[in-house]
Parts: sequence; structure tokens; C-alpha cells
Amino acid sequence: MSMKQESEVGRKVESNAKLAVVIMAAGKGTRLKSNRPKVLHEIGGKSLLAHVIDAASQVVAPADIYAVVGHQAERVRKAVAGTGIRFVEQTEQLGTGHAIQCARKAIAGYDDILVLSGDVPLIRPEHITELWRYHQAQRAAMTLVSAEPEEPTGYGRVLHTTPGSPVVVAIVEQKMLTPAQLTLREINMGLYAFKTTPLLAYLDKLTTDNPHGELYLTDMAAVLAAAGERVVALKTEDPAALMGANTLAELVALDATLRAATASHLMAQGVTIFRPETCVIDAGVEVAVDTVIEPFVQLLGNTKIGTECLIRSCSVIENCTLGNDVLIRQSCVLEGSTVLDGAKIGPFAHLRPGSEIGQDAHVGNFVETKKAKLGKGVKAGHLTYLGDTEVGEGTNIGAGVITCNYDGVNKHTTRIGKDVFVGSDSTLVAPVTVEDGAYIGAGSCITKTVPADALAIGRTRQVNMEGWAAAKRADQTAKK
Ligand code: UD1
Ligand code: CA
Repeated sequence: MSMKQESEVGRKVESNAKLAVVIMAAGKGTRLKSNRPKVLHEIGGKSLLAHVIDAASQVVAPADIYAVVGHQAERVRKAVAGTGIRFVEQTEQLGTGHAIQCARKAIAGYDDILVLSGDVPLIRPEHITELWRYHQAQRAAMTLVSAEPEEPTGYGRVLHTTPGSPVVVAIVEQKMLTPAQLTLREINMGLYAFKTTPLLAYLDKLTTDNPHGELYLTDMAAVLAAAGERVVALKTEDPAALMGANTLAELVALDATLRAATASHLMAQGVTIFRPETCVIDAGVEVAVDTVIEPFVQLLGNTKIGTECLIRSCSVIENCTLGNDVLIRQSCVLEGSTVLDGAKIGPFAHLRPGSEIGQDAHVGNFVETKKAKLGKGVKAGHLTYLGDTEVGEGTNIGAGVITCNYDGVNKHTTRIGKDVFVGSDSTLVAPVTVEDGAYIGAGSCITKTVPADALAIGRTRQVNMEGWAAAKRADQTAKK
């Protein structure tokens, strides 16, 4: 059983009640000062909204998850279309309460709804199920998650009937706090469970009587409490995981938290990461035991790295698969490529998408590959471009060799067989084939097939003119 399956068992909520999750994701994110919608900003290599959807999808089916979209709605929908969730449109963003009013039709058929924020990305499935279990056990109309962090400023504060009681009478937003209420430390984390019937019955009681002129979902606490409905708070011991990001500084802090957790997790599994705080590792990256990662490395996307590899400083590896015993020397850039066991890459090599580097092959400094398949033991040590190319086992590519794959309109393939020797500074004008065992003289321009075991020389012959230089020098001296 994989770890994921094991932990999922504890997360599933056993109840006959029909449950939906609503994720509020329509806001512009004014405080980010960005043209990109807030929920599409990324931490750990994934958008804020995708993180929240991931957590929610482990609790309810994607068809029961509704994202409220509004600001740049099309862009947001497109970004998470693959998840299978549904969408509700909030054309004008008149507040979090209005967001739920817009979801009225979608949620009417459910017994309970859980409301999450698209800008609280560190949330885990356990937080969601714990909230729902508590909400059901309390038989509440509304349950909110609260916390008492060191610094409550900026968050809504939770008011109770009596200190120590879970029963809530109101949530007061920062700007509405009276001087006396400024000392209140219990904050609203923006995560709620509602019984659908009372929610829909009183949802229109919200008013815009606040400094932003918005419909605050938080005001439902006072509205429901005044109507005699039960409103309670579940105090979390883990507020760090439920922090929202309203500014770029807060977003970057969440990114650091998430990446630190990813690095710790890899180290716990036997991966050595020197100076992990300098490395940028996405959550989906897999690394096997005894691999060593030096400072300032970036491992991104769905990269997978085998055992006993060494990834030296300043290399950036995105969506790649590396076998075992692979050495990536300093400052390499690898994208969408495969590197087989024992290969050595770099320093300063660039593997572009579609490169496949064979077992024990060597791709050295200032070598660029693109859609290039290099067989076992191939050596391309220095200053080379291999694009749209196949290179057979044991072939040696000399320094400065270029495959001319582009004729200005189309790309063409270069086929180089096994055990070929391509002399330095040769150009291979594609489409062209060099058969097994052939030998190409240095500085050649190869435009037609080189037969197996032949020698090809594609350059003018050298001419030596005896005494020419000495005569020229003598002539110049005489003229002075
Ligand atoms: C909200 C809470 C605050 C709580 C904090 C926790 C309100 C009024 N306040 O404040 O009590 O302490 O979260 O992080 O709810 N959104 C929409 N449509 C809108 C407005 C917002 O979908 O019309 C979405 C946003 O995209 C965002 C979420 O709702 O994902 C929360 O909105 P935001 O403006 O970030 O609320 P906060 O000021 O953080
Ligand atoms: Ca927020």
C-alpha cells in the first residue's frame, strides 16, 4: 500500500449527509499588486487553487467541489480544468458572502457545505475532515476554524458568548474592531462548515454595512447566532498550515514553508541535501536514497531521480527522469529529458526537451541537445549542438561538432551510427546519415551519407607555400 492510500483511509468521512466543498476563488487579490489572479500565483511549483483542490479532492469527489470564479474567470477555469471540479460564476466581486450567494443553486441539493479559501494553500485533507466531524458532532449551523497566533493583526476576530465556550456570537473584521476589541487574539482562519438549510434561509440577511461596502461571509456568524442557530469555533493547534496569502511577501513565506517541508521529507527518506534552504524543490519531485544534492539546486515539476546520483550546485532540472549513479556537474539546465544510469552531464550543459542520454554517456561543457537520443557510452565532451539527432552506442562526437538541423523552414534528422568518430568542428547538414564505424575528418562539412567504416573528409585540402611568410616579412621591412 502506498503512503497516499494509507493516509486516505483515515480521511474519508463516514456519514450519509451529502457534502459539497465550495472554494472561494473569485477575488482579484488587490494586495498582491499583480495582473495574475491571486489564486493562480504559485507556491511549491503549483497554483494556490490547485493546492486547495488537491486537498479537497481527497475528502469529496471532484464533482462535489465548486470553485467560485470571477476575476479573470476563464483563465482560472482553464488552469484547473483537468481536475474535474465544477465552477460557479461571481461576475462582480462583492465580498465573500456574495461569493456564496452566487453558489446558491449549486449547493441547494447538499446537506452540508464546507467553505474554503482559494488563497490558503497549505491546507491538508485532515484539516477539512476534522472540521466536518466537529461540525457534525456539535450539530452546529455554522462552524469556523479559529486560532490564536502570535500576531492576529489583519484577520477577523472571533467573539464568544463566554470565555472558554466554543459558542460564537460574531466574527469582527480587523477594520471594524472597537478599541477594546483590538486586544482579542482569537482569529478566523476563513474555513467554515455550514448546514445548508439555515445558511440559505439567512444568506440574504447579510448587509454591506462595513468599511469595504462588501457582503462578508463572516457576518453569517452574527446573523445565524441572532436567529438562534448554533455557531461554534474549532480552535486549531496548527495555524501555520491555514495561513492565507494576501501579499507577495506572505506568498513567498508560504512557498518557503512548503519547500522546507518537501526537503525535510526527502532527507527523512535518505536523500542528502546540503544547505536545503538554498534549494528549490517542487512537491511532486521524487529522489531515491543516497543521492546527494548540493546547494542552490532546483528540482522542478515531476522530476524523478534515482539512487547514488550527485546533483552539483546551480543546476536546474525540470520534468526529467534520471537513472542511478548519474552525475550532473555544476550549472546544468535539463528540461523534459531522460538520463540513464551512470551518465555524466556538464558542467554548463543544456538538455532541451526530448533528449535521451544513454547509459554511461558523457555530455560535457557547453553542449546543447534537443530531441537527441544518445546511445550507451556516447561521448560529446565539448562545445557541441546535437538537435533532432540519433547517435549510436560508443560513438565519439568531437569538440565543436554541430548538427545543422534547420534549413530555415523545416527541421531535419541526423542519424549517426554506432562506434562512429566525428572529428572536431564538423558540421552535419541534415537530413544526413553517418553509418556504423565511419570516421569523419576534423573540420568537415558533411552533406551526404557516409557509408559504414568509410572515412569522409568534407573540406579543401591543405596547401603549404614554402617560405611565403618569411618573404612577406622581408618585403615589409624593406618598405620601412
Ligand atoms: C477573510 C475573512 C477574515 C479571515 C481571513 C482568513 C472575510 C470578510 N474575512 O479575509 O475574517 O480572518 O479571510 O484568511 O471573509 N473572494 C471571492 N469573492 C469575493 C471576495 C473574495 O471569491 O467577492 C475570495 C478570494 O479570492 C479569496 C477568499 O475569497 O480566495 C478570501 O477573500 P480575501 O479577500 O482574501 O479575505 P481576507 O481579507 O483574507
Ligand atoms: Ca485572504
